Formats: sequence, C-alpha cells, structure tokens
Amino acid sequence: MYQYTEFDRQFVKARANQYRDQLSRWQAGLLPEDEFRPLRLQNGWYVQRYAPMLRVAVPYGELSSTQLRALSTIASQYDQPDTALFKRAQAAQDELGDIPLDDGKSVKTNLTKGYAHFTTRHNVQYNWIPLDKSADVMDLLASVNMHGIQTSGNCIRNITSDERAGIAVDEIADPRPFAEIMRQWSTLHPEFAFLPRKFKVAITGATEDRAATAWHDVGLHLVKNASGELGFKVLVGGGMGRTPILGMEIRSFLPWNQILNYLEAIVRAYNRFGRRDNIYKARIKILVKAEGQQFVDQVEAEYQDILQIDGAPHTITPAELARVSASFVEPDLTSLHASLKGAPPAAAPVAAADNTEYSRWLKQNVAPHKNPELRIVTLSFKRLGQAPGDATADQLKLAADLADQFSAGEARVTHDQNLVLPWVHQAQLTALWEAARKAGFARANIRLLTDMIACPGGDFCSLANARSLPLAEAITRRYQDLDELHDLGEIDLHISGCINSCGHHHSGHIGILGVDKDGKEWYQITLGGSDGSLLSGAPATGKVVGPSFSAAEVPHVIEAVLETYRELRLPADGRQETFISALRRLGADPFKAAANGVRFAAAASPIAEAQVA
Ligand code: HEM
Ligand code: SF4
Repeated sequence: MYQYTEFDRQFVKARANQYRDQLSRWQAGLLPEDEFRPLRLQNGWYVQRYAPMLRVAVPYGELSSTQLRALSTIASQYDQPDTALFKRAQAAQDELGDIPLDDGKSVKTNLTKGYAHFTTRHNVQYNWIPLDKSADVMDLLASVNMHGIQTSGNCIRNITSDERAGIAVDEIADPRPFAEIMRQWSTLHPEFAFLPRKFKVAITGATEDRAATAWHDVGLHLVKNASGELGFKVLVGGGMGRTPILGMEIRSFLPWNQILNYLEAIVRAYNRFGRRDNIYKARIKILVKAEGQQFVDQVEAEYQDILQIDGAPHTITPAELARVSASFVEPDLTSLHASLKGAPPAAAPVAAADNTEYSRWLKQNVAPHKNPELRIVTLSFKRLGQAPGDATADQLKLAADLADQFSAGEARVTHDQNLVLPWVHQAQLTALWEAARKAGFARANIRLLTDMIACPGGDFCSLANARSLPLAEAITRRYQDLDELHDLGEIDLHISGCINSCGHHHSGHIGILGVDKDGKEWYQITLGGSDGSLLSGAPATGKVVGPSFSAAEVPHVIEAVLETYRELRLPADGRQETFISALRRLGADPFKAAANGVRFAAAASPIAEAQVA
C-alpha cells in the first residue's frame, strides 16, 4: 500500500483545519453562501436532492482496514440526517410510487441512512451527512490520511487506475507510482485549478484495460516499444455525458519520463481553447472532436515549448520514480503467510452441497495474482435489498475484518463498485469463502448480470431524470437464480438516472438511461456498449433500442433481450458464446425486435404516472 509521508499527513490535516474555519465563518454569517460554496465543493461537499453529499477520494482504490473502519464510523455516526429531513425524504419517495412486478409485489427504493457508496472512479460517497458535522468528518478522515480534495470542481480529479495494479498477472509496469506522481503534480496546481470543466485521468499498466481508459479525458496505458523501453500510449478526449466519445490516440509511445510535460501540454491546450462559454460543450472531448488534427498540433506545439523554452521542468528522473515507487510497500508476505508458504490451494469445502457454489465463486470472484501462491478475491457488494456499491457501517467493518484476516489489512475499490482483497493465500480460499459467505459478500455474481453499475439516480441526485436504484433492485430480484445467472454468463449492465451518465450506461453491454418525458420517469435501453475490458472487447458506445419504456416494462425488456440471446447463441471454444459476442455477430435487430415487443403496462405503471419532484 501507499505509505503516506509526514508531508501528506500535514497537508491533509491543514486542509481539514482550514475547512473548519471556513465552515464556522459561514455558520456565523461572516462568509456569504456564494463564497462558501466553492470552498466546500473543493473538499468534496456537494448539496444534493435531500442533503449534502460527501465524496471522499480513494487514491488508486487502496483502502487499509483502518481506513475502512473510519469509513464505517462516518457511516454509523455521521451519515445520519435529522428525523424531520429523513421523514420528508421518505414522503417524497412515497409520492414517486413503486414499480409493480409480475409476482404481485412491487419495488421502490428503501431509503436508508448510515452507509457509504463505492463509486466507479475510486471514490466513496455519503448521502446524508449534515453540513454542520462536515468539519468533524474532515478531521476523522484526515486522521486516516483521507480527504475529499479535488473530488469535485473543474480541476484534475482523483486519478484512477486498475484495482489489480502492482499484482496483476498481465501487468507491463505498476501504474500506481505514476498515478501518485501525477497526483502530487496536479493537486492544487494553480494553472489547472479552474479548467473549463472537470478533468478525469485513468491509467493502466496491464494488457487488459480494467480502468475504462478510453472513456476518460485522458487515458494512459503503460506499454513497451520494440526496444523494450517503457512508455505511455496516450488517449485524449474520451467521455460520457450527453455526447459519448471514445478517447483518440494522440501518442502511441511517449517515454515514461515525459508524461508530466506532455500532460501539461494537453491541459494547457484545453485550458486555452476549451469552451468556457457553454457547460455542455466544455469537456475536452468536444474540443478534440471539433479541432481534430489542429488540437493534436496545438498539444505538440505546447509540448515543444515546454521542452525547449521551459526546459522540460517536469521530466521525471529515475531517482524520483524510485522514490515514489518505494512508497508502495508490499506486505511482508514471509511473515504474513509464514505457515502457509508453499501450501497448496485450499481443498474444496467438505459439504458436497456447497461444492457448486464454491466452484462458481472460484470462477467468478477469484483471479490469479502475480505471485502464483496468492489470489485476488472480489467481495461482492451486489445483493438483493441494497443499491449496487452500497456498504453499511457493519459491512464496512466486516470487510475490514476480512482484509485483516486474509489480505494483509488491505482492500481495494473496483471500477464495478465492489471491493477486492489483493493478498489472499491460495491455501486460505476456503476459509475466506466461508467467512465472506457469513458476512454476505460471497455471492458468485462478479461480471454477471447482477454485478451491475448504477448511479444514485433520482432517489438522491438533484440532476436525475429518473430513479436508477429501484430498477437495479427489480432486475436483481428477477435474476436471483444463480443457475440462470451463470447460464447467461458475463454481461455488463449499466444504469444511469440521466444523460450525465454516472452509471456508465453508454459502455454497458446493456445500458439503461433515465429520461424525462412530460415530467415523468421513462427509460431508454442501449445495446452493445463496451468499457474496453477483455470480456467486452474494443471500447464502444451502446446504441439506443426503440422508444422509451416505463419502469415497469424495463425488467421485461431485459428479459426479452436475454431470452433472444439464449435462443440465438452458439457454442464457442467449448463454452457458449457470450452475450456481447452474440450481439456483435447478429447485430441489434433481433434484440431490438424482442425489446420492442414489450409494451404492456405503460399506462398502468404508477411510476410512469408519478411526478418527479
Ligand atoms: C449524486 C451525485 C452526483 C452528481 C451530482 C454527479 C454529477 C455528474 C455530472 C454533472 C456529470 C457530467 C459531466 C459532464 O458531462 O461534463 C457526471 C459524470 C460522471 N459521473 Fe457523476 N455525479 C454524481 C454521482 C456519481 C457517482 C455515484 C458515480 C459513480 C458511480 C459518478 C461517476 C460519473 C461518471 C463515470 C461520469 C461520466 C464520465 C464523464 O465524466 O464523462 N458520479 N456526474
Ligand atoms: S447520471 Fe444523472 S442521476 Fe445519475 S448520479 Fe449522475 S447526474 Fe445524478
């Protein structure tokens, strides 16, 4: 894990103190609202539909068990709105109505409090912390080296990476030291504190892209050239939102030591020419798309200026890379696994009845590790009755206990809103499975339909057109049967409550997007998107299938699409063809026809009739 330095610690503490002062001046009426707002936003404090929302950064996704416990304390002690507010929120929720299901039951969001939400970009969000408690929360976070700095605003946001960084079997080089060098360079960089719009960078060092790099403002891949030298393939101008665009390759090989100089050239070009006049056109993707080669030329000109006129001030020296790399300390596995050294993989569980479940878990939730004796194990945060990526205070504590017991006290947040344990010995897999099962984290659904991504949607977000979470719940409820789920195989389902696309619907094999028609909640379905992972193939934007559907129809549309897949799929390489491969082979038409056959309950759906508050 990254070892925080004294400088890091003091920096985060000083920021927490500064924020306390700003908050108290605002509370005393000495700081006007419009001056306090940017200050709280710079520390991750938004105000959403019902209450303030806090976004906490988790650099490179790494969380120690101590940090997990601090997050748990925040959930139990601070993610607690006052009773009147919570009642108002519940009443508003009731007004929205439920989604009727076939079994005579219905589903709506069960508004809860006291939990954290893992996002897709190595952040954790809370939905209910009262603003007058915000400085206490900042202090608590600072005590474990955490903060919300640059998790909001038009700056370079938390730089995300691969949850398997440093331990992946397909890794060319560890991306974390570069992510950390970029974090140190970009944090509070005065030239880049007020960009035209937010700026998101993702970096991977593996052959498989597990960081959705093509969907970022800048996507970086560590690669080796023909002479075996390390460098970066650089993508620029990717993003989702109302104009989904895949990042374009601007450099196929940039020597690794030039990455800050080159990034500076990109961000300078963006800072000068980005559309500050129109928030919908302000992301770098719009500039790159509009200017094409001219943008590339501009970046190259800036880069040459930085090299020749400025003297390449941010060239990374081997000593600097070595210094930062040394901050990523591997756990002492000799002592951690002393008794297990050389031990074979764990035997299957004794009870025969558990064998299928266990082998499914091994297949879906356990991945190889660069150390052949170890495994990377995903704890599933996708379950019935809980929003994707949500973790209660108790669950956070349980995850911390599992990290201590099985993974050298470390867990990592994944792009798909789960946690992984990165240092599990193969001989402990059965014991971990038993413990994870007891804690409710062992559902063998990783990369399957119910391992979906969803944004908070209309239940929490003031920008939403529709709710995401009840749909996630309805689909999860429909697909509880693990036999069926495994038969359907690996499928990315992504749900966003509006076109801002926080739930990545554009990159889902199946995407669901909440849209507003005459003040009512409706949903568009897209098919064929990809985040660029091995399973999904080349990154792609999903295409819309027909007109919008009511909430009640959506689970049936998903079912119709998946039944069509089951009918038409072919066996492939001894396994069956995956959903995304079948979709690419057949084209969207048969799936579209099946989806559009579902037109039954639009008028009768209470959610379709409810006014969006
Ligand atoms: C409820 C609080 C949230 C608000 C107000 C919010 C707001 C926004 C907005 C306005 C955009 C569009 C930016 C643009 O196109 O210029 C956006 C994009 C995005 N957000 Fe959120 N978001 C929230 C929560 C989340 C969560 C929980 C996640 C992850 C689960 C997330 C991940 C993303 C991603 C991945 C994008 C699209 C990528 C891109 O920047 O192009 N956001 N968000
Ligand atoms: S996609 Fe829309 S509804 Fe969902 S969190 Fe983002 S802004 Fe809110």
